[in-house]
Amino acid sequence: MSSTEREITITALKYDPQSKVSKPHFAEYKVKEAPGMTLFIALNEIREKQDPDLAFDFVCRAGICGSCGMVVNGKPRLACRTLTSEFENGKIQLLPMPAFKLLKDLSVDTGNWMNGMSKRVESWIHTNKKTDISKLEERVEPDSAQETFELDRCIECGICVAACGTKIMRPDFIGAVGLIRAARFDIDVHDERSDEDYYELIGDDNGIFGCMTLLGCEDNCPKNLPLQNKIAYMRRKLVSVK
Ligand code: SF4
Ligand code: FES
Repeated sequence: MSSTEREITITALKYDPQSKVSKPHFAEYKVKEAPGMTLFIALNEIREKQDPDLAFDFVCRAGICGSCGMVVNGKPRLACRTLTSEFENGKIQLLPMPAFKLLKDLSVDTGNWMNGMSKRVESWIHTNKKTDISKLEERVEPDSAQETFELDRCIECGICVAACGTKIMRPDFIGAVGLIRAARFDIDVHDERSDEDYYELIGDDNGIFGCMTLLGCEDNCPKNLPLQNKIAYMRRKLVSVK
């Protein structure tokens, strides 16, 4: 090992809630750090060479699919976008993200949670207009389209939910991801829902009035989405309903 290479220590929570004999414990792994190594690469190496039983999720390895969220030294992050070199002392502790059902070790079920969120905010265009595919699409102002596209950059990683203090107090809180999803459709000129309609969906303490502006979501969102800005936008609109 050259003087610039180092050995890092990764500790990961291991626990299989499906097993009657499994007990939560930490496993420690030593890994030779490679240039540009991400946590995802390190975990794969561990699974290949040291512990084939270690469970964690990934698909894209590029910060796009949102499946590799985990708590890294106390903060929820994407494993595929986290360089091991960021940790100067070479010690990295990994935990599964809270707020989601634990599947095994570092793997949690964000998919079913996101599905529930999506249904709750009725995450689809509501319109009475009939679509005529023989005609050109309705024009949308570029600024308006840009605002919608920006919120569409959400990858449903769940990091904003795992970082949210309100979610700990209110288990049914919909999180920043749910609130900005509602904002995304409210901004979209194709969606004809009224403020009253959105109030019915998210006008309570598990929705838009539950957020305590603790900023955990915005501080940790890997896509740097303007979460608090859009939450404030929806709150201002819905506070005047009823
Ligand atoms: S808002 Fe950000 S942190 Fe939350 S799910 Fe979307 S991309 Fe992930
Ligand atoms: S593996 Fe897809 S976001 Fe990390």
